[in-house]
Amino acid sequence: MKRAWWQEAVGYEIYPRTFYDSNGDGVGDLPGIINKLDYLRDLGVNLLWICPFFTSPMDDFGYDVADYMRVDPSFGTNDDFKVLLREAHARGIKIIIDFVLNHTSDEHRWFIEARKNRYSKERQYYIWKDPKYDEYGTMIPPNNWGSFFSESAWSYDEMAKQYYMHIFSKKMPDLNWENKTLRNQIYDVARYWLDLGVDGFRLDAIAHLAKDLTFKDSSQKANIEGYTLDMSKFSSIPRLFEYLNEFKDEVLIKYPRIMTIGEVGGLASTDEALKYSNYKTGALNMVFNFDTCWENGAYGSEDKLDYQIVTNVKNLKHLFKKWYDACNGKAWLPLYWGNHDHPRVVSQYGSVRYRNESAKMLATTLLFMYGTPFIYNGEEIGMSNVDYTRITDFKDVSALNYARKASNRLSEEQIIRFLRRTSRVNARTPMQWDGSDNAGFTTGTPNQKVNGNFKTINVAAQEADSDSILNFYKTALKIRKDPSILNSVLEGLFELVEPDHADVFAYVHKGAKPLLVISNFRSYEVPFKLSYRVKTVLLHNYPSMEKRGLMLQLRPFESYLLELDPGTSL
Ligand code: GLC
Repeated sequence: MKRAWWQEAVGYEIYPRTFYDSNGDGVGDLPGIINKLDYLRDLGVNLLWICPFFTSPMDDFGYDVADYMRVDPSFGTNDDFKVLLREAHARGIKIIIDFVLNHTSDEHRWFIEARKNRYSKERQYYIWKDPKYDEYGTMIPPNNWGSFFSESAWSYDEMAKQYYMHIFSKKMPDLNWENKTLRNQIYDVARYWLDLGVDGFRLDAIAHLAKDLTFKDSSQKANIEGYTLDMSKFSSIPRLFEYLNEFKDEVLIKYPRIMTIGEVGGLASTDEALKYSNYKTGALNMVFNFDTCWENGAYGSEDKLDYQIVTNVKNLKHLFKKWYDACNGKAWLPLYWGNHDHPRVVSQYGSVRYRNESAKMLATTLLFMYGTPFIYNGEEIGMSNVDYTRITDFKDVSALNYARKASNRLSEEQIIRFLRRTSRVNARTPMQWDGSDNAGFTTGTPNQKVNGNFKTINVAAQEADSDSILNFYKTALKIRKDPSILNSVLEGLFELVEPDHADVFAYVHKGAKPLLVISNFRSYEVPFKLSYRVKTVLLHNYPSMEKRGLMLQLRPFESYLLELDPGTSL
């Protein structure tokens, strides 16, 4: 079967704000990305997903867009973007941009107009409701829905004399996708960037465009402030698929060379995912789900100490398998360990103590599964969670909202411990380029504090070390691109080996060139039976193989990619 370019691509997500600052203002920028294109090409990636760089007051660091068609001055100019696109394409690298269609900033001109004028067309672009009043006559929101960022999903606007809906921060009013004029405006934005030559979109928070239009209270128990986060009120609601099909018919289909990847988040089932992305009728090429992100139980672990956080390897591998089984032959899958909304994977599923071994193990495990892998910037050098000791260092609206709300039930120490384990700020510290001041990210003052380990964990040091995580990634990506290996990875049947093993994640690809991956997810030795005849060791994160008869004695986080003898019975 002929594959599309994006099925064979290796993706790399860039959080521009902390990637590389070219002008010393402390904020990463587009010229900074241009500066690092050779690095990215040499790493072996050929598809960049760049988080939002459009005009924004930066309440959510760019996900609150105030002008979809203009680059924010802190990131550069539209001309810089054109150069970036040209230079990336010259190196065989495609670029997809992050398109935020669920909400705008409250500083977008549409919202400014909407607040002012009840009868303007822009008023209809957002979701407004009259207040309700409780038994004491106090004004309360129209229903008990909560936002993702620890607040009510409604804020009262004095000028508009109504509540508006926002499922993220107050400064990010949700768009009313029921309104066709608004939808047309959004399509114009999409066309603008596609005509400029971008290779597609990552569609932010796409699962939430349609809301339960009855706006009835959630039956979940509300908190003391009167709201509850009930995602079913605004996730994957049937009407959404009508919007997406329209978007596809009016825009996407006219650009057959592009790719689209939707963020469908927490609740999406595999059946729902297929509605978005099945080859026949889906509007999108693939969707990110979050299923495999929290299998160490960190989410909701406020009362736990770090040693109590243990990866549930069995669940983790079964989740990957579940998604493969649902999608193989029907839809494409993205593969990733983490992104700008998740903690660092070395801290989560690996070990800072065994950083080298575990980062390499995680690379081997992910990069040889079915789908399009996305590496998150810094993952390729094993960057880990923050060492911050003050709540105020966690500069992020969701972290700070959480900390404020949690402060009446948790100590500061507990809050910091929890944020160091779960906060998305962990992924947003400056990229560690070298051992100089601010990790070589900026000559100015970085907008987010650098991780204290940058003197030892950085690109320059790893480029000079043939055994580094970075060089391991380069080798792994070269192997993945070998056409016969890629065929097995993408087309050979994927099966778990010893699926009930509690410590080892092992799988085979059956096919012309059978491949076996074996990964120990523990910081201690684990025996594992090797029941196949091995032809070659393609990738290994230890210098030698330790075997007793048929048993491999896997060392902490040891991991193999093996090519099997084609005659071996699978
Ligand atoms: C997505 C983004 C996240 C952002 C949110 C609101 O989940 O990945 O970073 O805060 O949408 O746009």
